[in-house]
Amino acid sequence: MHSLGILLSGRGSNFVAIADSVDAGRIPDARIAVVISNRKDAPGIAIARERGLDALVIPSKGRAREEHDRDVVAALQQHQVDLVCLAGYMRLLSPWFVRQFPQRILNIHPSLLPAFPGLEAQEQAFAYGVKVSGCTVHFVDEELDHGAIIVQKAVSVLDRDSEHTLAARILEQEHVSYTEAIRIVLEGRFRIAGRRLVMTDAPTVHRRA
Ligand code: GAR
Repeated sequence: MHSLGILLSGRGSNFVAIADSVDAGRIPDARIAVVISNRKDAPGIAIARERGLDALVIPSKGRAREEHDRDVVAALQQHQVDLVCLAGYMRLLSPWFVRQFPQRILNIHPSLLPAFPGLEAQEQAFAYGVKVSGCTVHFVDEELDHGAIIVQKAVSVLDRDSEHTLAARILEQEHVSYTEAIRIVLEGRFRIAGRRLVMTDAPTVHRRA
């Protein structure tokens, strides 16, 4: 059984999509071991509690990055988490945190990386005037929005779009993409060649079951 740890800072719709996929068996042999927010007022943490999941707030405000990260990692380890999913976690992880979970931290970003990293990616893409945007699920490495890409989905920008309607259509694709990416990683049916994740027929990456 795989144990997922979810980190979030806000609304939590990607967390809910993952939780629904776990409940429906679309992410087999997995459970959500803990949901952690760095903000106490994050709506996502209230939803986690309503769903009866272990939900922790570990406030980050005013704390040094690595000192905060040590508390988060300790909580993840206590819950025996073997895959960390960042779901709208609006805080950069320290290199130390990344090293604790090699190839075991995923992030979702609302653009086709490497375009528009950072904050408000949908607004950046809309203002730039791109005709296609989308979302990316990738491994987390020590650079912002940078690790090897697991899943990307494209979304067309329509003439009648506002940044809000575009963001809503990207979000629908985010919810589907995160489940796909988690499955790929948990099943271990891939190898990494340079920056490229290449699917394989049989598992090539040893995973703790
Ligand atoms: C999502 O759009 C996610 O891609 C984005 O924050 C939103 C969180 O929504 N993440 C980033 O921009 C990370 N750089 P949610 O709380 O409803 O899942």
